[in-house]
Parts: sequence; C-alpha cells; structure tokens
Amino acid sequence: MAFTKGRRRLRGRAAGAVALALALVTGGFAAAAHGQESAPLSAEDAVRAQAATLRDLADQRGLRMGTAVGSQHLNQSEYARTAAAEFNSVTHENDLKWETVEPQRGQFNWTNADRIVDFAQQNGQMVHGHTLVWHSQLPSWVANGNFSEGELLDVMDTHISTTVGRYRDDIDTWDVVNEPIGDNAQFRDSVFYRTLGEDFIAEAFRMADRADPDARLFINDYNIDGINAKSDAYYDLVRDLLAQGVPIDGIGFQGHLISGQVPSSIQQNIQRFVDLGLEVMITELDIRIQMPATQQKLEQQARDYEQVVNACYAVSGCSGVIVWGVTDAYSWVPDTFEGQGAALPIDDSYQKKPAYWAIHEALGGEPDPDPTDPPTEEPTDPPGGDCEADYRVTNEWSGGFQAEVTVTAGSDLTGWTVAWSFGGGESVSHAWNASVSSNGSSVTATDVGYNGALSAGQSTSFGFVGTHGGSVSTPQPSCTSGS
Ligand code: G3I
Repeated sequence: MAFTKGRRRLRGRAAGAVALALALVTGGFAAAAHGQESAPLSAEDAVRAQAATLRDLADQRGLRMGTAVGSQHLNQSEYARTAAAEFNSVTHENDLKWETVEPQRGQFNWTNADRIVDFAQQNGQMVHGHTLVWHSQLPSWVANGNFSEGELLDVMDTHISTTVGRYRDDIDTWDVVNEPIGDNAQFRDSVFYRTLGEDFIAEAFRMADRADPDARLFINDYNIDGINAKSDAYYDLVRDLLAQGVPIDGIGFQGHLISGQVPSSIQQNIQRFVDLGLEVMITELDIRIQMPATQQKLEQQARDYEQVVNACYAVSGCSGVIVWGVTDAYSWVPDTFEGQGAALPIDDSYQKKPAYWAIHEALGGEPDPDPTDPPTEEPTDPPGGDCEADYRVTNEWSGGFQAEVTVTAGSDLTGWTVAWSFGGGESVSHAWNASVSSNGSSVTATDVGYNGALSAGQSTSFGFVGTHGGSVSTPQPSCTSGS
C-alpha cells in the first residue's frame, strides 16, 4: 500500500525524519516490518540491541513511534532529551489547538506551536498535526459565534488554510477532524454539526487538502480501538466519505485504554479500516492503571502495550504508534480519572517501565534487562453451575463508559442469560453481540443466536456503551442457561 501523495520539500535536519516518512508512506515498512523472524544475536549485537532506543528500533522498521509534547516542558533537559532520543515523531499535546493558535478571529499566535516544530526539526523528527476541527479547546468566538453556514465555512477555511499552509513544509500528517462522533455512535453536537450538518467533515478535509495536497489527512477519535458500535459508525462514515471522493487518507485510533482491558478485536478493527484503503495510526496511546501501580499491575500494563503495538505491527497499513506523553509526570490521566495514572511507558522519574521494554521487544529489540519475576497465575477451573459472567469496564469518560462481559460455560449450553443491576445510575445505549433490555437499574442480556451454543469451558463476549451520572459501578452479574 502506498500512502504518499507526492513530493515533500526537505528542510534542515527534518530531512532524516522525512526520509523515514517516505519509507513509511511508500510502504517500505511493510516489507521490512512484518512477520520476520530474527537470527540469533551475537553478544556484541545483543549489547547494541539493548542500548537501542525505541526510536532506533522504529526507524529500522520504518514505523512511527511518536509522543505528545508540551512546549512548556521543553526547557527541562531530561524531558527534551527523552523526547528526542526515544521518539521519531512528535505531536503538539495542546499547543496547536484552535484556542491556542487563533484565540481571536484572524489573530494567530504561533509561539508555542513553533517551539515544538522547531524542536522536531532540530532533532530530525516527524510532526503529526493535532488538530484542526474539534468541538473542544475551541475559542468562544467560534463556539458561540452564531455564524451562518457561509460564515462558518469561511471561519473554518481561514483557520485550516492558515494553519496547514504555515506548516506545509513541516507537517506531513494531520488530525483534520477530531472526535466528531459521540459515545452513542451518533454525530456529536458541536457548533460545526449544528450549523453545517455532517458535511462539515467533508468540507474540512477538502479545505486541508487544498492547503497542502501532499499532506495525509486523518479523522481521529477515542473508544474506536476495538470493534464496537462507535467504530462501526466510523466505518460507515469513512466508507461514505471515500465514496464521495473526499480526500481522507487515514484514521487515528486514540488508544486511551485501561490496563487489562485492551479490546481483543483491535487488530481485526485496524485491518478492516486498512481494507478500505486507509492508513491507520494509534495516535494517543496510554494505558492507565488504578493507583498505586504495583509490580503486578505494571507487568499487566506491559502485556497491554505489547498487544496494541503488535496489533499495529501485524497489519501492513498501520503506520505506527504515538504515546500520549513523554513521562507519567505530565500525563493528562490523573487530572481526569481520579485514582488512576502511571499510563505511559516512562515513569515520572524518567525510568523505563516494563511497558517500555515490552514495546522495545515488540519492535525487535531486547527484553527488560532487569525483569522482576512474573507473578504466578493460578490455573482456573471451569466454573461450576451453568455459566459464569465476568463484567469489565473497558473505558470511561465524562458522562459515558464502555463495558465488556465474558460468558464462560460451566456445562454445555444452547443459550445463556446474564443479568445485573447498575449501582451508579448507568444505562446501556448500544450493545453488540447480545440482546439487551433494561428495567430501571436491572439489565438482562441474552445471546444473539450464533453465540448461544457454548461447550463446557468455552467463552464468548459481548459489549456495550452506556451513559452514567457521575460514577461507574462494577456489577456482579449472574449467568443462567437458556435465553
Ligand atoms: O495551561 C493551564 C494552566 O495554566 C492552568 O494552571 C491549569 C489549571 O487546570 O490548566 C492548564 O491547562 C490545561 C491543559 O491541559 C494543559 O495542561 C487544561 O486545563 C486542560 O483541560 C488541558 O487538558 C488537555 C485536554 O486534551 C483538553 O481536552 C490535556 O492536556 C490533553 O492531553 C488532552 O488531549 C486530548 C486530545 O487533544 C484529544 N483526545 C483526547 C486527549 C485526552 O483528553
């Protein structure tokens, strides 16, 4: 698959990164990266592999291994050194958002955005542009502008053409539209959707394409990493956009995940978007832990990172991974999810965590030089009784959440029924792989035919997204035979 859209001018030390980008976009990485067995290393090579940074390993495979950066931290030497040494791509965590670069209509401020682009150039890194049109971190003159359709299109065009045009030589990939679909799998309410309907998405992509026909243009969202109602809605949306000839090149799975709850369908989901002809990138990966982070939790997190990186690595057309921050010290997670944190591969003292070494190894490097013995796992017996249901919250955010329930048969079943009560005022919005009905806080889920027959010990899963009024409970479901 060739992602390239044309030539790109080289400037300064970014030439090295662009050479990598070209290898990447011409599909060079696919041949180099996927499914190759490596020969045993000599002792000298093993030392070198150990010393290799994530950046070295990703460069060798033509993959993006990026990080989000805040300009306010770049004057801290350890932060800057780590961002430059470990990553071949940077993304503005906040400094390129609309409220920062165009706080007043037509008045642009590039100070902080430029600092990051300059940093990337000095260090020969790619820049993934984040983001042009988003309902959040939007200045009030846009959000409350009461614009007519024509005026809002003008406002968008000025913002997009000025921003993309300014960085034409520096930024090859853009999150053009961020999070346009809500957790209920419907278009999200925003000034853009209210004024222009869903056409705002196609218009934004056309504007960005006019400003830089060579740039690769992405749509980006969270909670679409696995196959679920929201990622299904994206699948339909991007298929329609492509059918209309809209210049969209890729989709970003943000990957804000919970440890132990990486969706099992992530690789299959990447593959189905690649099969539409899109480039897929994991754009904002972090995998949060309920604090305190014990060694056992860090080992689980390492397996989670490995699963995500390998899912991308396994699909020719998934161009790489960006982690959402250089160090746990500045991650957005603890500020947003009370009691959770430690979500990144490098800790708040710049120490490499088991997750770092899991990525290192997945990229073909050496494993953790100082592993702690993995915790012993007790073998699990098949459940007694008809069946057992294991309920896991796989993601949560302000107002919403996603859950997955795994049904394991204790004896041969021809159908199953799982029931639970919510304890936090939640309700189910959309379910998949089960038929779900609710009565107040009581919920009943039954198989949907094809997944009803289970032999003893066999499992199947269903999932749903829902809303909550402030907290998300973890119910203890019952499971019975028959549906
Ligand atoms: O800069 C001010 C500081 O002066 C002030 O003292 C402090 C008080 O709260 O706020 C600081 O601004 C914060 C800013 O991050 C910089 O740290 C904002 O309050 C805070 O809202 C903002 O959060 C950012 C969030 O987007 C906003 O929606 C996070 O850093 C950033 O990581 C996060 O990134 C988003 C992606 O853009 C889109 N996908 C989801 C992802 C995570 O939410």
